[in-house]
Amino acid sequence: MTRRKFLGATMAGSATVLAGQFPTFVRAATPAISDASTFQLGGDLTVNRLGFGAMRITGEGIWGWSADREGAKKLLRRVVELGVNLIDTADAYGPEVSELLIAEALHPYPKGLVIATKGGHTRPGPGQWVPNGRPEYLAECVDNSLKRLKLERIDLYQLHRIDKNVPVEESLGALKKAQDAGKIRHVGLSEVSVKEIEQAKKVLPIVSIQNRYNIEDRGSEEALNYCEKEKMAFLPWAPLGGSGKGSLTKAGGSLETEAKRHNATMVQLALAWLLHRSPVMLPIPGTSSIAHLEENVASAKLQLPAEDWKKVEELSQARG
Ligand SMILES: NC(=O)c1ccc[n+]([C@@H]2O[C@H](COP(=O)([O-])OP(=O)(O)OC[C@H]3O[C@@H](n4cnc5c(N)ncnc54)[C@H](OP(=O)(O)O)[C@@H]3O)[C@@H](O)[C@H]2O)c1
Repeated sequence: MTRRKFLGATMAGSATVLAGQFPTFVRAATPAISDASTFQLGGDLTVNRLGFGAMRITGEGIWGWSADREGAKKLLRRVVELGVNLIDTADAYGPEVSELLIAEALHPYPKGLVIATKGGHTRPGPGQWVPNGRPEYLAECVDNSLKRLKLERIDLYQLHRIDKNVPVEESLGALKKAQDAGKIRHVGLSEVSVKEIEQAKKVLPIVSIQNRYNIEDRGSEEALNYCEKEKMAFLPWAPLGGSGKGSLTKAGGSLETEAKRHNATMVQLALAWLLHRSPVMLPIPGTSSIAHLEENVASAKLQLPAEDWKKVEELSQARG
């Protein structure tokens, strides 16, 4: 069986364990992620660890509507059908578009679906991002996200960026007020150091961190280890290296060879490695394609023996 055929069969559904031939990759009836372990987000929200990033359902440059708006909604419905119950978004994606599409496609929301949004990173134009951590602005952001998402309370609200021009205590003070008013359940941070996390925790409880991290970009190792110690969720953004130069979806070389050896794609190996790396890891791969979504979700079933993971790590470091 060719690798392409095997992946196809994984999607279409035979429940055979390929013992011997492909000892590490188990096929199941659908690519749904019930095999992925769960995490207690904020101690009270059970989520499957493999989530979905909804930044790529917007137009070019994360700006405006996707050319295929109906397709974007179909994709979101497939996300939920596959058992993903953590969707990451932000008011800045589109801007507004990603949140609006989520509500259009999925509201009224299925029980247990956790929508994590963000505010505090503005969009003056396509591809442009400017932090704004003024408390009055953030208070408005929360209200607007609630309206767009048609929610009474946002399960996870993340400060998208710390604004260097505003004391972080003031930005977080606005989120604390929103939390006290019942508009936000939990608060998270994005692109922060351990020092910044500790500073924030003096203002209010922080349940998650969202920093850039993937098998070939481990700059946030310290923050990840901190999350593990504190039992906080770590949502690696660009888990596949994003869409630019560092994209793992275009990678060749030794990791790709190793992926093939396990009858998986490079993308699946990269996502499965993240899930293996830490029990607090909640990857949120982003895609605009249902085929890619299904491929990504199937990676939750990819399990390698410890010595093979060690080899993968050595190879990825060698590539770094
Ligand atoms: N906190 C922050 O500052 C921050 C920053 C950036 C992103 N994020 C969040 O993190 C999420 C993920 O980050 P990201 O979207 O930048 O990067 P990513 O998930 O690492 O990669 C997305 C790119 O990979 C492609 N891709 C996905 N699955 C694929 C597959 N199976 N085969 C081939 N190509 C595939 C996508 O293209 P296709 O559409 O063609 O599949 C897209 O170009 C975002 O959606 C967003 O929610 C947060």
